[in-house]
Amino acid sequence: MPCRGYFKNSEKKSWDEIYGREGQFDKLTQHISKGRQLIAIKGVRRVGKSTFIWASLDRLERLGKEVGLEIKTHVVKCDGTQTIDELRSELYEILPFSEESTAMKLKEVTIGVENFIPSGTMTFTPDTRMAAVFRKMSESGIGTLYFIALDEVQDFEEREKLMKFFNYVHSSVQNLFIILSGSQVTTFQEFLDAAYNKLDSVHSKKYKGRIGGIHMTPFDMAQSVEFLTRGFRDNKALETDEQRKDIALQIYRHVGGIPAWLVEAGCDISEAYIEYGEINKLLLDEILHEIEREAMTKIESEIDTIAEMYGATIYDDIGRIMRGIPNYQISRKKLLEYTGLEDKRFERAMEILTDYGYIIEDETAKTVTIPDVIIWRFFHERS
Ligand SMILES: Nc1ncnc2c1ncn2[C@@H]1O[C@H](COP(=O)(O)OP(=O)(O)O)[C@@H](O)[C@H]1O
Ligand SMILES: [Mg+2]
Repeated sequence: MPCRGYFKNSEKKSWDEIYGREGQFDKLTQHISKGRQLIAIKGVRRVGKSTFIWASLDRLERLGKEVGLEIKTHVVKCDGTQTIDELRSELYEILPFSEESTAMKLKEVTIGVENFIPSGTMTFTPDTRMAAVFRKMSESGIGTLYFIALDEVQDFEEREKLMKFFNYVHSSVQNLFIILSGSQVTTFQEFLDAAYNKLDSVHSKKYKGRIGGIHMTPFDMAQSVEFLTRGFRDNKALETDEQRKDIALQIYRHVGGIPAWLVEAGCDISEAYIEYGEINKLLLDEILHEIEREAMTKIESEIDTIAEMYGATIYDDIGRIMRGIPNYQISRKKLLEYTGLEDKRFERAMEILTDYGYIIEDETAKTVTIPDVIIWRFFHERS
């Protein structure tokens, strides 16, 4: 029997099926409130970007329903074979899209924080904020709000044409939000940054500061344990919550907090429990080592891709930085000293590492951490 609940292998498409991500949803509602029509979801491979897209769109649809605003959503998984024309005809199914068409043009409506965030001292939860914003939009004549997600957008081949579509959206379609995601969404964003810098000021002005970012991070220890404990319960695995928590902790110590690895470990262990009626240490170790190996292989191939893309020196720079970060935080300054890298090269490599989700920088404390044990071990323990 396949695993259920949190450990289910097929795509989770409803908000109720996923754990956590409240902070990311909050961020999403803020970007929408501020009228940022391009929103980039970033994070390390398998951390839950695609899952978040489906789940948050589901939650937005439901919130829309509550206030009587129609929300239409569409997710495209880019794979390098689509053309802009195909994309267009696909989108035509959900929205009356044509560059000449005025159907989408909303006369006087300007989406922006001034217009859509109700004033007052009230503090917003994501749901109350979104409901208030949706209500305002509806009052200003927006009948339908569209969300299009382009997942793995770095694989979309006709980038220039896609950018033209974005320009059209920025200048004429105000009730459409575009979510960009993928493990290399940053390379796509870099392309956009460079392209917009060359464009006339009207378009680049519209673009600048309009792209909102959402960072997906691995679960921390408490979250991982809670997630796994509930997952075991969903699958009727192990006897008591105490046992579940104990095994959960061991899983986290071994494979870290990237949801995909937790799901895999949780499901494998549940299946083994159901088959043997118990989980012994040997079996547990075997399952966890297998997953660890798989995760390491994935990182290895990703680092190769990075080196291919940014040149071989980045390989060394990244290695030096990663090895300089202990299994707790380090100050940015100390790290720079440790690596002995020239400022510019250090900054560049730090940028790439942040974008791939390999490090997290605390902007105020000026410290750096590695958010995941497997990533840490990959750089520190491999010869
Ligand atoms: N918040 C979450 N709650 C439950 N399961 C999750 C969550 N985030 C990710 N997962 C699971 O982790 C796996 C990887 O998620 P996915 O969205 O494909 O990652 P990404 O798109 O970042 O590569 C999937 O099996 C998914 O079901
Ligand atoms: Mg994905």
